Amino acid sequence: MHIDAPFELVLFGGLGDLSQRKLLPAMFMLFCDGRLPQPGKIVAITRRELARDDFLQQVRQALRQHLEARYFDESLWHQFVEYLVCHTIDLNDANTFVQLEQVLDKQCQNRVFYLATGSDLYTSICAGLHHSHLIHEHAKVVLEKPIGHDFESATQINNAVAEYFAESQIYRIDHYLGKETVQNLMVLRFANSLFEHQWNHKYIDHIQITISESLGVEKRAGFYDHVGAMRDMFQNHLLQLLCITAMEPPASLEPDAIRDEKVKVIRSLRAITGDAINDKVVRGQYDAGVADGKPVPRYRDEPDVAGKSQTETFVAVKVEIENWRWAGVPFYLRTGKRLAERACEIVVHFKEIPHSIFPLQHKNTMANKLVFRLQPDEGIRLMLCEKKIGPGMNVRPMNLSLNPADHKKTRVPEAYERLLFDVLVSNATLFLRDDELMEAWRWVDSILTFWNDLEQRPEPYTSGSWGPAAATLLLAKDGRLWDENS
Ligand code: BG6
Repeated sequence: MHIDAPFELVLFGGLGDLSQRKLLPAMFMLFCDGRLPQPGKIVAITRRELARDDFLQQVRQALRQHLEARYFDESLWHQFVEYLVCHTIDLNDANTFVQLEQVLDKQCQNRVFYLATGSDLYTSICAGLHHSHLIHEHAKVVLEKPIGHDFESATQINNAVAEYFAESQIYRIDHYLGKETVQNLMVLRFANSLFEHQWNHKYIDHIQITISESLGVEKRAGFYDHVGAMRDMFQNHLLQLLCITAMEPPASLEPDAIRDEKVKVIRSLRAITGDAINDKVVRGQYDAGVADGKPVPRYRDEPDVAGKSQTETFVAVKVEIENWRWAGVPFYLRTGKRLAERACEIVVHFKEIPHSIFPLQHKNTMANKLVFRLQPDEGIRLMLCEKKIGPGMNVRPMNLSLNPADHKKTRVPEAYERLLFDVLVSNATLFLRDDELMEAWRWVDSILTFWNDLEQRPEPYTSGSWGPAAATLLLAKDGRLWDENS
């Protein structure tokens, strides 16, 4: 599938971290795959003036750094530069938006404004675009997460953006929904009767969802220290993965059919307030340790982090869904920086067999697990039991891999490729609706307020470990363990 009509993608934060690491490489790969139409325009909005050569030099460097070497093709790069334009705007001054009109093509129907800036700028950017009459009825706007820092600020931003764009023109992005395995999870659930019949409290013991990173805060402390893991990862990525795992089968693949089901999941989450927060929520902050074989400093000693920062770099939560399907099935969600390894997995733990006829087996080895691995290597595994070859009746676990044998040979597209393409063809299925966003904020708000009033350092954990001891305890209290190497 490719885009027929010419397009204009205006990237606010055009040379920021996200654009360099993800957005520009994703556009380049779409071009290399022959999926971008000619003519088209990618307008990077920068705060300071930049000569064209310097701009192209920076984009080239970003592609070389963030794409695997085998995907950077010099001759394709020379064609790709035809799309690239650099334009300077003072985002706080609506008058400076006027000149953008000269860069854009009045006839172009497929106009996308991508706001890859802090969400505190969304209102002034939309107002500036409106002031300069750049928003026509076909224009679309993409909003990066986190949108706001709590329920109230997100409401204000949503209301402000809604003054200029209809809901159908707004694309709230969560790049985890663009990951291949997440879509495969939907196919596995809704294209097979085998799993969906088992997908409930009768057969499932509990579900774990982990997004672990070995990296620290890197050069983003200026942003991260005001945000923390709850707003950066939990309120969006983890809750979205939870929704896709737990939602009822939608009636179709239409955007609203899927969003209706996701929002029902968030509305069914048991609220965690008061003392229950200490019981069900763990927050941590990394201490010095070792990452990828090298000594690394504690979070509070990272450049641009406040010396007494109370920002959490780890969060784990026991989540319960109050509906018919999931009654009594806990979902354990965790995410953190500077953990033992980079991984993202959804692990569905089925119930143990009611009675074992095999000798010398710890019951735990008997329970089946279905593992959706989103990264670093994408794939799905079903863990079953089989007989160990040889004498006796010894049982051992075995993996049934659901990946095609040639999986490694096929390039798995980056999430942003999929999502940018979807925006360009106006497919909103994998984007959040306003009510989803607001329900997610409503749910996490009570926890954030509680922490805010607490004025206490989150529990420290050693860099390179799996997080604070309290996270282990969170599951141990229920007689369970985290899957650390499933
Ligand atoms: C972003 C967060 O949304 O996701 C980052 O802001 C995080 O802090 C990143 O590192 C992780 O994304 P991925 O796709 O590399 O797992």
